[in-house]
Amino acid sequence: MILVTGGAGFIGSNFVLDWLAGGGEPLVNLDKLTYAGNLANLAAVQGDARHVFVPGDIGDTTLLQRLLAEHRPRAIVNFAAESHVDRSIHGAEDFIATNVVGTFRLLEAARGYWAGLPADEQAAFRFLHVSTDEVYGSLAPGAPAFAEDHVVEPNSPYSASKAASDHLVRAWHHTHRLPVLTTNCSNNYGPYHFPEKLIPLMIVNALAGKPLPVYGDGQQVRDWLYVTDHCSAIRRVLEAGRPGETYNVGGWNEKTNLAIVHTICDLLDELSPRADGQSYRAQITHVADRPGHDRRYAIDARKIERELGWRPLETFDTGIRKTVRWYLDHPDWVLGVQSGAYRDWVAAQYGQAA
Ligand code: NAD
Ligand code: DAU
Repeated sequence: MILVTGGAGFIGSNFVLDWLAGGGEPLVNLDKLTYAGNLANLAAVQGDARHVFVPGDIGDTTLLQRLLAEHRPRAIVNFAAESHVDRSIHGAEDFIATNVVGTFRLLEAARGYWAGLPADEQAAFRFLHVSTDEVYGSLAPGAPAFAEDHVVEPNSPYSASKAASDHLVRAWHHTHRLPVLTTNCSNNYGPYHFPEKLIPLMIVNALAGKPLPVYGDGQQVRDWLYVTDHCSAIRRVLEAGRPGETYNVGGWNEKTNLAIVHTICDLLDELSPRADGQSYRAQITHVADRPGHDRRYAIDARKIERELGWRPLETFDTGIRKTVRWYLDHPDWVLGVQSGAYRDWVAAQYGQAA
């Protein structure tokens, strides 16, 4: 069996659903259920004996030691994190607690467990840390995409906390020989994406007749990957990645934010037109830029393709259509996550533009 952390969040829940749908072995899913964790994402595996959900914190050493001793996983996949850049600008405490201290505690618990395994199980054990392209900082227009040996230059409290966790993971391999793997992935999108992030926020606001808040000039560039492609990359790295290595994962899909918002508006115009016949583009509003906003991310995913034969299956056109369709088909899920806490966040971040 494997231990997954943060498996009630956006990417983690997609990973759990895909893993079990693909006939994967049983897993323990440890999640603190912060505002971003949502058991509704896992409704499809409720009652599946292969899915053991444990509410709890990756910083809780006693709980980690108990879970590892009880379930004896052959691998740990660490998704648990505070993940939203804008929240890290408002306050970074939780980011340091989970992304840095939590990862440290998880590494230490894993090391203690791993050291006590018989030699063959020790050799097979893997600790896979899910990280981000944001650790590399920002690219100038036309500069080569981030390869694995790119300098690490995080610019936001979030990316600094993720870079710190990546360094800890690297050190636990170098010093303690823990068999770790790290993936640094670009921007994901798809089902179960919490509507504080660009793509789901734009879909949800558009349908609610609210402004579509584009930061600054909207010419910032991100590389977008459909979430199930990220999940298949993680499965492949877990299966065949070389311990101690990092693998960059991306979709070869660089787009400006404004182009993303236009695409969403055009799809909604087609699939769910406004009653007044106008385009959803009329709702686009330029708002103040994000402080320290990284201008461009781009991933060079040739290493994972060359060494492990992984490539994304979705193009941006197919992935974004599926995503918009999913939000149109799941209004109850959207309503469910729009709690009082969600409304407080939107009011604090966007004020009048919300
Ligand atoms: P998310 O915010 O949707 O989910 C995070 C999950 O972790 C939630 O279920 C939350 O309850 C849980 N969690 C938070 N703190 C915890 C703690 N202390 N102990 C246990 N569980 C805790 O995030 P996501 O977008 O699914 O991202 C998952 C991972 O992938 C993160 O590590 C993130 O840095 C990384 N990543 C995300 C993207 C992206 O585009 N979303 C891209 C690359 C990498
Ligand atoms: O690159 C991978 C990272 O992608 C992950 O590590 C993070 O966890 C994930 O949140 C994401 O970070 P970004 O900051 O790139 O994603 P976000 O959806 O917050 O913003 C995408 C772009 O859209 C960014 O340039 C900011 C802009 N934006 C975002 C929001 C929420 C807007 O213009 N308006 C908005 O309201």
